[in-house]
Amino acid sequence: MNISIFGSGYVGLVQAAIFADVGHRVICMDVDAGRVDRLRDCDVPFFEPGLAQMIRNGMDSKLLSFTTDAKEAVQASDYLFICVGTPAGSDGAADLSYVMQVASSIARYMSSRKVVITKSTVPVGTTDQVEAHINEALQSQGRNLQVEVASNPEFLKEGSAVADCQSPDRIIIGTGSARVLEEMRGIYRAFNRNHEKIMPMDTRSAELTKYASNAMLATKISFMNEMATIAEAVRADIEHVRRGIGADPRIGYHFIYPGCGYGGSCFPKDVRALKHLAEQHGHRATILTAVHDTNQRQKNKLAERVMARLGSDLSDKTIAVWGLSFKPNTDDMREAPSRYLIEGIWSYGGRVRAFDPQANGACRELYGERGDLALCGSKEEALQGADALVICTEWKAFWSPDFELIKRELSLPLIFDGRNLYNPAQMEELGIEYYGIGRGL
Ligand code: UGA
Repeated sequence: MNISIFGSGYVGLVQAAIFADVGHRVICMDVDAGRVDRLRDCDVPFFEPGLAQMIRNGMDSKLLSFTTDAKEAVQASDYLFICVGTPAGSDGAADLSYVMQVASSIARYMSSRKVVITKSTVPVGTTDQVEAHINEALQSQGRNLQVEVASNPEFLKEGSAVADCQSPDRIIIGTGSARVLEEMRGIYRAFNRNHEKIMPMDTRSAELTKYASNAMLATKISFMNEMATIAEAVRADIEHVRRGIGADPRIGYHFIYPGCGYGGSCFPKDVRALKHLAEQHGHRATILTAVHDTNQRQKNKLAERVMARLGSDLSDKTIAVWGLSFKPNTDDMREAPSRYLIEGIWSYGGRVRAFDPQANGACRELYGERGDLALCGSKEEALQGADALVICTEWKAFWSPDFELIKRELSLPLIFDGRNLYNPAQMEELGIEYYGIGRGL
């Protein structure tokens, strides 16, 4: 089938590569000419395991191509996926300007029937709005064409985006049209083989399913972070509690890891956008407000801990930071807890020596060259001349470090662990002062 994908971010690029991999002819369009040039050279603008190879395969087989030409992308394909960003505006509402720009291009250039699919995370009602926008534009130009717009939200995770997209646990298709549903079934045939994953529904329910999924996951995390705070107060260990509650299959082990707060481009934005949407409809979303507020508090926790232990004048202190990305296997620092820590240390006059297996570049781009930030080539180098160590991301490389080396390098054998990687009893035996999250024993 012929598919055009608008937007070459995480969702668009991964989806384009995956569709080409199963034999669809895919054009991926982006307005950013520099990005498109890089992609034509198989240079992926972010780190995502397995993606570069898949793009290379797609281009070698001539099934995948990149363009900046919206007209070409609209006219070449029957199925047009909108995968552009929906960043949060200052009031928390999702900014739909990129989505509507694509809708305008579609209206302008289409000359035959098209099915448009919104894959970007969009507020409930957007799919209808896109359809109305395109149809009105067509009518006002006197063109006798009709467009059908479906909602098909994406659930991939950064760091495992290719695998998630290849084996989705559900394929949500919001459409009122039996014909469009059949066509979508055709597009997803290769991903729907062993058991039925397609869940047809109306467009609004599809849009809300996406927000509700992310909000539920964010709620689990904030709930656990609140339990961790309580565990500290009552001198219990949240890691025992986590395993204890996870054994109940109604609760489950997934997404109940306490930590230094959720980050990334989705949860923070989507919780706020859903809260805003609820308020627009006259409902005060008390749970979502609490989820967001708890997360903000949690993100400040590591910096507060460092200050509580080392004092609020850090001008003679250097803090080693392991992990900058918002989670492992990505170089993404959007809304990352490490930023709250680093900026907190700076605001109290301290210096940072940081290492991340992938995100050093993103950090340099974010903060530029500055005297109070050293980006190091290894986790060991980050320890050199530092007073204490803070862990922000649970990269595999941090799970079993050489603790004797840590003790030798740090002026104080002091670890603040935002991801509960180590055993407090072992730390005590080693003579390392250790602060995890929710480990009140
Ligand atoms: C999230 C969802 O998991 C995807 O299903 C969704 O498609 C995506 O948002 C999106 O809307 O595009 P992602 O942002 O890539 O994916 O990352 P997650 O793996 O969900 O992690 C988000 C944050 O939660 C990270 O900062 C992570 O450290 C934190 N987290 C996760 C915890 O603190 N505890 C946990 O138990 C799990």
